[in-house]
Amino acid sequence: MKTVTTLGELRAARAELPEPVGLVPTMGYLHPGHVSLARRARAECAGVVATIFVNPTQFGPGEDLENYPRDLPRDLELLAEAGVDLVWTPTPEVMYPPGFQTWVTVEAVTQPLEGVRRPGHFRGVTTVVAKLFNGVQPQRAYFGQKDAQQVVVIQRMARDLDMPVEIVVCPTVREPDGLAMSSRNSYLDAAQREAAAVLYRALTAARDAFAAGERDAAQLRQEMNDVLDTEPLARVDYVSCADPETLQEMETVADRALLSMAVFVGKARLIDNIIVGG
Ligand code: PAJ
Repeated sequence: MKTVTTLGELRAARAELPEPVGLVPTMGYLHPGHVSLARRARAECAGVVATIFVNPTQFGPGEDLENYPRDLPRDLELLAEAGVDLVWTPTPEVMYPPGFQTWVTVEAVTQPLEGVRRPGHFRGVTTVVAKLFNGVQPQRAYFGQKDAQQVVVIQRMARDLDMPVEIVVCPTVREPDGLAMSSRNSYLDAAQREAAAVLYRALTAARDAFAAGERDAAQLRQEMNDVLDTEPLARVDYVSCADPETLQEMETVADRALLSMAVFVGKARLIDNIIVGG
C-alpha cells in the first residue's frame, strides 16, 4: 500500500492503478464501518484508493474540528489489512491553497435535517468530495448509509454536475447493542456509551410500528421521541420521518420513509437512521 500527500504524487500513483478504481473518502480514526466500505471497494474494483482528511470546511464554528480524534498509524494499518492500494492524506494546504474561493453547493436537499443545525456543513462536504473525485478520478465511490443525507446530497451533486462516478451506498455497521459505529463515539464515557444505544431502540420501535401498519408520520416521530425520552442522558436535537429522496417531512408514508434523528449524549452529537418500506 502506497501513501501520498501532494496532488502530483497522487496523480502519478493513480495513473499506475488498474481500473475500475474505487474511492473510499474518510476523515480517519477508522472503525469497522469505514473498513466495510474499503472491503466492499476491494471486492468490486481493480484499484482501491482511500483518503484521510479531516476537512475543516465542513465543521461549523463551535464544532469539534480541533478535538476530532486522529490516529494515522492505526488507520494505515487497517486500510492495508483491508487491501487498499493507495491512501491519499492531503494537508489542509494541499486541499485549500492560498486564494481558494470556489465552492460546490447543492440546494434543496442540503436545507432540512442536518442543514438546519449545521449551516455550511454540506457546502464543505460537497466541495471536498468534488475535489477528491477530481484528484482520484474514481469509477466508483463508496459512502455509508449512516450519513443518509450526505448520500442524497452527493448523489445529487454527481448527477447534476455529470460526474462520471457511480455512488455506492453501504449499510450501517453497528455495535452489538445497535449503536451505529462512529468516530465520535470515542467522546462517550461508559454511562453515556450505554445510553447511546437508545437511538437504535427508538429507530427500531418506529420500524416495528411501521411494520404493524402505522403510516401516520407524526405518530412514527412520536414513537421515536417516546423511546428517546426514557433515557435521561439523551437530549433530542431532531427526529424526522421524511421522503428518502427529497428529505421533506411527510404527513403520511405512502411507500418508503427515511426515519432519522440527531441526539446529544454528553458532548457527542450522534446521528442515525433507517429506511422503512419499499
Ligand atoms: P467520515 O465520518 O469519516 O465517514 C467516512 C465514510 O464512512 C462515510 O461515507 C460514512 O457514511 C461512512 N461511515 C461512517 N460510519 C459508518 C458506519 N457505522 N457504517 C457504515 N459506514 C459508515 O463522512 C465523512 O467522513 C466526510 O463527510 C467525508 C465524506 C469523508 C467528506 O469529508
